[in-house]
Amino acid sequence: MEILKFCKAVGDETRARLMNVLLRYELNVGEIVQLMDMGQSRISRHLKILAESDLVDCRRDGLWAFYRASDSGMGRRFLDGVAPLLDGEPMFEKDLARAERVIRERTAQTRQFFDSIADEWDRLNSEVFGDLDLRGEVIGRMPQCKIAADLGCGSGELLALMASKAGTVIGVDNAPKMLELAEERFLGDARMSLRIGELSHLPLRDGETDCAVVSLVLHHLARPQEALVEAERILRPGGRLLVAEFDKHTNEIMRTDYGDRQLGIGKDQMLGWLEGAGFTVSEVTEYNVNMGLTVILYEAVKE
Ligand SMILES: C[S@@+](CC[C@H](N)C(=O)[O-])C[C@H]1O[C@@H](n2cnc3c(N)ncnc32)[C@H](O)[C@@H]1O
Repeated sequence: MEILKFCKAVGDETRARLMNVLLRYELNVGEIVQLMDMGQSRISRHLKILAESDLVDCRRDGLWAFYRASDSGMGRRFLDGVAPLLDGEPMFEKDLARAERVIRERTAQTRQFFDSIADEWDRLNSEVFGDLDLRGEVIGRMPQCKIAADLGCGSGELLALMASKAGTVIGVDNAPKMLELAEERFLGDARMSLRIGELSHLPLRDGETDCAVVSLVLHHLARPQEALVEAERILRPGGRLLVAEFDKHTNEIMRTDYGDRQLGIGKDQMLGWLEGAGFTVSEVTEYNVNMGLTVILYEAVKE
């Protein structure tokens, strides 16, 4: 009986705590071990029980696995029913605060990574893209507009090109060293506005931009869909979003040498997130690049 299967699966304090956290966050085993402060074998055993009971989905990503609460089927319906019982319980609240801290630490690691490789970024970029002029492809799809934003702008190569299509260009990044390089590049250029900030809380007002670009950033984030929701917020109705992202792949070098959190994002997953954030996708273009990777360019309009 389904109900007995589900009740047995959550009928244990550790598994109930795991469920509570995985309802809000997608995490890998290392992150779960850190926040629950338990051994990996114990955590893996509980995760296996939850996954076998269809309450948790395991998403394989190269050598890593990410876990989150099931988002469909009977398991999801059961979770939606019991979720209110988890609210307000001090132990569960504490776990959520720890999960938030673990994600913040991971974001800080990404920031440190980009600070440390800022000077080398151009070389790393050409290693992956070879002859493909990805930035040119992005700019070719940008409309002429008043205000455009590059979200996760890095050292600003794309920003410089965006200025040919927009009156004002806003660059946002959370790595101070990357932004410093962008500042040096655009010293005294009043059309450039560089802002330090997180993609999950953009330092822009609602509807401030006509066009936004998110190029090769989402695979660094713990919750990429949050960044798309934010991008939707800062675009005016009818505004254009351009997303460049690696398709799902298995090249672990991107994690070890390029600091990626996840090995690309599958096309269906990305289309679902874009639609969920309130975009209509008008065109999708794929390019094969070096190291067995494919980069996908999504053009979307805020509905
Ligand atoms: C791979 S680089 C891409 C840079 C540029 N968009 C391009 O296409 O060349 C990723 C950039 O995203 C920034 N980034 C990563 N996570 C971020 C976050 N949570 N919030 C803001 N920026 C972030 C990094 O600092 C880095 O500059």
